[in-house]
Amino acid sequence: MTVQLKEAPSLPTHNTIVDFIEGIFQRRGSDAYLGESVTMAEHMLQAAWCAEQDGGTPEMIAAALLHDLGHFTSEIPEDRLMKGTDNFHQEAGARFLERFFPDEVVEPIRQHVAAKRYLCAVDPDYFGKLSDASVYTLELQGGPMSADEVAAFERNPHLDSCIRVRLWDDQGKDPDMPHPGFKRYRPLLESLIVAR
Ligand SMILES: [Fe+2]
Repeated sequence: MTVQLKEAPSLPTHNTIVDFIEGIFQRRGSDAYLGESVTMAEHMLQAAWCAEQDGGTPEMIAAALLHDLGHFTSEIPEDRLMKGTDNFHQEAGARFLERFFPDEVVEPIRQHVAAKRYLCAVDPDYFGKLSDASVYTLELQGGPMSADEVAAFERNPHLDSCIRVRLWDDQGKDPDMPHPGFKRYRPLLESLIVAR
């Protein structure tokens, strides 16, 4: 009997990265977003739509659209994943995307969990707006930041983008929110690809 081993996906190129990402949305977008009443694709497309409606820059819209791509670890070529350490989805997504997109896109993705911890520490109203699933994961992610962590986070040159993308992430969990499809964002993503 021949055992068929599932091959890890090969690394896309700068020419194929947008097709590659669209393929993930098509194949995996209907996956449940654990504890939320929207799918993964709905969540990320709603976050991008909120960014667009809110006047976010193209980089911010792209970050909102792609912020949870790291949840699809089986879709990401293995050399982009961290071996021997916990594979936190925000880092997995950032490490995969940093080969193709500028820091203005990648850093808010890398920091979107940290930004939740930051906002819980500095904004008394923020915690009350989190979904139940986000409250649950907050503790697993380290809880609200300490004063030292807040000070360090505020030195991030992309602080404003990190916070805004996080707020759109929180908004994109509404089963009744209409949103565009992935194809709307292809030209925007293509315009942001950088050679590294
Ligand atoms: Fe998210």
